[in-house]
Amino acid sequence: MAKIKTVYVCQNCGAQRPRWEGRCSDCGSWNTLVEEKSVSASATPKGRGAGRVSWVGSENSTPEVWSIDQVPEAGPNSVQRVSTSLLEMDRVLGGGLILGSYVLIGGDPGIGKSTIVMQMAGGLAKQDLKVLYVSAEESVQQTSMRARRLGVAGAVNVASESRLESVLEMVLKTQPQVLIIDSIQTVFTGDLDSAPGSVSQVRECAARLLTLAKSQGVAVFLIGHVTKDGALAGPRVLEHMVDTVLSFEGDNHHHFRLLRALKNRFGATNELGVFQMSGGGLREVSNPSEFFLEERKEARTGSSVFAGMEGSRPLLCELQALTNSTPLTNPRRTSLGVDLNRVHMLLAVLEKHSRLSLAQKDVYVNVVGGLRISEPGSDLALAAALLSSEMKKPLPASSCYFGEIGLTGEIRACSFAAERIKEAEKLGFQRIYLPASNEKYIESKPAEGVKYIYLREIRDLYTSLFGESSGGRKSADADMPF
Ligand code: TYD
Ligand code: MG
Repeated sequence: MAKIKTVYVCQNCGAQRPRWEGRCSDCGSWNTLVEEKSVSASATPKGRGAGRVSWVGSENSTPEVWSIDQVPEAGPNSVQRVSTSLLEMDRVLGGGLILGSYVLIGGDPGIGKSTIVMQMAGGLAKQDLKVLYVSAEESVQQTSMRARRLGVAGAVNVASESRLESVLEMVLKTQPQVLIIDSIQTVFTGDLDSAPGSVSQVRECAARLLTLAKSQGVAVFLIGHVTKDGALAGPRVLEHMVDTVLSFEGDNHHHFRLLRALKNRFGATNELGVFQMSGGGLREVSNPSEFFLEERKEARTGSSVFAGMEGSRPLLCELQALTNSTPLTNPRRTSLGVDLNRVHMLLAVLEKHSRLSLAQKDVYVNVVGGLRISEPGSDLALAAALLSSEMKKPLPASSCYFGEIGLTGEIRACSFAAERIKEAEKLGFQRIYLPASNEKYIESKPAEGVKYIYLREIRDLYTSLFGESSGGRKSADADMPF
């Protein structure tokens, strides 16, 4: 008979302990051990290779060793990509959905996870693929109401079920090619006593669905919740198990939503898909730079445009900076969308390499539209915005910037310079400020009316922005901070 064991499982990392401990000795998090009962015999088969999943052939056959060039390309288990009909989704998946792949989509509650997978399901069904959407959170009526609102034709099969065994039965009966589970934290297996959403439940259910994906060639989409600090809820083992981890981001005050690949066995990571939430569901934004620069009509003091990259795609966005004298002994530094440490570093570099005095100034930095920039290449655009605010002069019209600034004040090269320039030219930018060390990699000539301005150090930035326009360096020398 199966033996019922009581174990204490860390809800953060999945470590098991025979006794309760206040702090998990594996991952160091406090108060995460929860008592769970597990039926050891049925839950996890024992022995070496018990959990082995076969990708080619059945589990009982002798495993074969292949030379790479002899692996047959065609066949029932061959990699086959299909378009989801959402081009932004295809891009993030690495060029389309692979049948038999295992994908996890995580995101905050209410961000639109159910909406995007339902729209995707509709797109797949239009191509005569059989899609089964299992919601453990909503009733069939709710799911179908949403589907109808999104204009998804009746080709998608929906079910409301949270018992994994029933879900697997449904799959055997209906033989779908794509299975969507909404969400992995709410499905459970009757073999384990612990509550749905607990580490052992999530791990066990995910492992069984993995076997299904790989042995039957069904593409499985799991929707996952995220914890308060933005990490995917459940054990990290879930992220190791799946082929692709997508994160759906955005905030409730802005309409745009970003879909990012955090891990992808079938394509590049850091690809970005941009969507806009509207009354009729999510709309794809195929030209995100235009979208994010929509409200920027004229040059303003303290505002610059950063020619950034998201994955393999250029993305131009507006940065704003404000410097203000302050009576506070500890001036306030606030940054939204850019790492505050980078802002501190940049201020220190500006202070050191110029006569500007920013120590008695409050500094506010903001990325317009609620975007978050993690690229160091945004330094130059940020420095330009800070200088503009400090000097109370707007930056040259239709100018954009990219380049990393080092601690010695030097401007360092950025990758993908040609792509950034191309996008900036396409959007009508006429002055592109970039690192001098990028010059040798740029083969294209500037389009008519466009000027590339190569910079070596932070002083060059100032001179090219304000030095020349105020009647040459000589006359302005007295109040030149550099
Ligand atoms: P939902 O997909 O239910 O979010 P999740 O599954 O991530 O929790 O989306 C919920 C939000 O999306 C809800 O607040 C309303 C909004 N929404 C629209 O604005 N338009 C629409 O067409 C739909 C379906 C949802
Ligand atoms: Mg949902």
